[in-house]
Amino acid sequence: MEGGAAMIQAPKGTHDVLPHDVERRRVLAAHAERLLGSAGYQRIETPVFEATELFARGVGEATDIVQKEMYSFDDGAGRSLTLRPEGTAPVCRAYIEHGMHKRPQPVKLWYLSCFFRAENPQKGRQRQFWQVGAETIGSDAPEADAELIVLLAELLEAMGVKGTRLRLASLGTPETRVEYREELAAYLRAHESELAPEVRGRIELNPMRAFDASDRGTQHVMASAPKLLDRLAPEDAEHFAQVRALLDVAGIPYELDPMLVRGLDYYTRTLFEFTSDALGAQSGVGGGGRYDRLIEQLGGQPTPGVGFAAGIERILLAAPEQPTAPDVVDLLVTLADRDAQPVHLAAFELAREARRAGLAAQLELTGRSLKSALKHADRIGARYVAIVNDAEQTSLRDMDSGEQLELATGATIPAILRGGRL
Ligand code: HAM
Repeated sequence: MEGGAAMIQAPKGTHDVLPHDVERRRVLAAHAERLLGSAGYQRIETPVFEATELFARGVGEATDIVQKEMYSFDDGAGRSLTLRPEGTAPVCRAYIEHGMHKRPQPVKLWYLSCFFRAENPQKGRQRQFWQVGAETIGSDAPEADAELIVLLAELLEAMGVKGTRLRLASLGTPETRVEYREELAAYLRAHESELAPEVRGRIELNPMRAFDASDRGTQHVMASAPKLLDRLAPEDAEHFAQVRALLDVAGIPYELDPMLVRGLDYYTRTLFEFTSDALGAQSGVGGGGRYDRLIEQLGGQPTPGVGFAAGIERILLAAPEQPTAPDVVDLLVTLADRDAQPVHLAAFELAREARRAGLAAQLELTGRSLKSALKHADRIGARYVAIVNDAEQTSLRDMDSGEQLELATGATIPAILRGGRL
C-alpha cells in the first residue's frame, strides 16, 4: 500500500490470528467444548488483568513468571495490576469470590483465553498466547487427576497432534517438599563447585530448578541428586500409585520423570506434562497438576484442586493442517448502473433481505464493473449473482449453469430459495 507514514507492526512476541487460523482455532474450541462439556466442565472467563498480588501469592514469588515475566502496571490509583500470565490462580480466585464451595462439589471449569508472559519470543513461545485449560476444584480423588490427563490426551489426539509423550511425577505435600528441599540444598552445597553460577545463586531460593539446568556440569550433579519421588509420605505415594493405575486402565502411556519441574509453585502431588516431538525447543504442549493448598493460600477454605492448560499455538504447530471448507456464498449482489441512487438502495436492501431469509449474501462494495464483479463472484464461489438493473428489475445469474433470469427485484429471493427457478 502507498503512503508516507511509517508502518506500525504488532509488538514483538504477539501475532495476528488471521481468518485461516481462526478456522483452525474454531475446530480446536469445538473439540474442547465437546470433550470437556461431556465430562461436566463448564466454561468460565476471568478478567484479562488481575491484582498483581494474586499471582505473587498464587504462582509464587520465586518463580520466573513472577520474578521476570509479568506485565504489571499501576492502575493510576496506586494498585498494581498484572496481565494474567496463567489461568489457575484467577479461576481459584473466582471460585472463592463467588462462593462456589456452596455448589455441588467438585466444581469443574474450563477456559480458552489469552495469557501474557514477557518471555523471549521464539517458535511456540509468545508474549501473548492462548491456552485451553480445565480445573476440577473440590475433589482430591486420584480419579480427578487421571480424568484431566485422559481429557487432555483425547484433545491432543482429536487435533491429530503428533509424537506426544506424557511425563508424570508427584510432588507430595509442601511439608515433604520443605524437608526434601533442605536435603537437596545440602546436596547442592556439597557439589557447589561443579554447578553453573546461575544454579549456585539459586540454591537457597529454589534448589528444584537445578533439575532444569542445561549445562553439563549441573546435569551431571543432578543425575545422582536425591529424588522427591523417593521421599513421598505414604498417603501421597498411595495417591500417586492410584493415578498411575487409572492411566494404565485408560491405556495412556507415560514416563515417570522424577526430574519433572514446572515453573509454578502451587503444585502438590500429581504433576504432568505432555510434550510433542513435532515441536522444537519449546516442546511442552500442555501440562498441569494438583494444587491442594492454592485456594487456602488465596484466602479460601482448604479445598483441593487439579487442572491442566495446553497452549493453543503449540497444539496448532504440532497438529497437521486440516483442509477447511471454503465459506459458502449463496448470493453476490451487484449493480448494473452505479450512477442511479435508487439502484444502490435497492441492491443494499436486496442483500439485507437475502440474509434475513437465511442466505449467505454479500454486496459488491468496490464499484467493480459488471464483468469484474462476475469474475469476483467466481473467485469467492458465489452460487448466484443478482444484478440490480433498477429499483424494480433484477437479473439473477446462476454461476454454475451461466443461465440468467430476468425478475422483479422482489421475486429474486424466492427464486433463489426455489433453486433458481421462476
Ligand atoms: P504452563 O505449563 O505454564 O501451565 O502453561 C501451559 C501451556 O501453555 C504450556 O504447556 C504451553 O503449551 C503454553 N504456554 C506457556 N507459555 C507459553 C508461551 N510463552 N507461548 C506459547 N505458549 C505457552 C500453566 O499455565 C498452568 N496454569 C496449568 C495448570 C492448570 N495447572 C493446573 N491447572
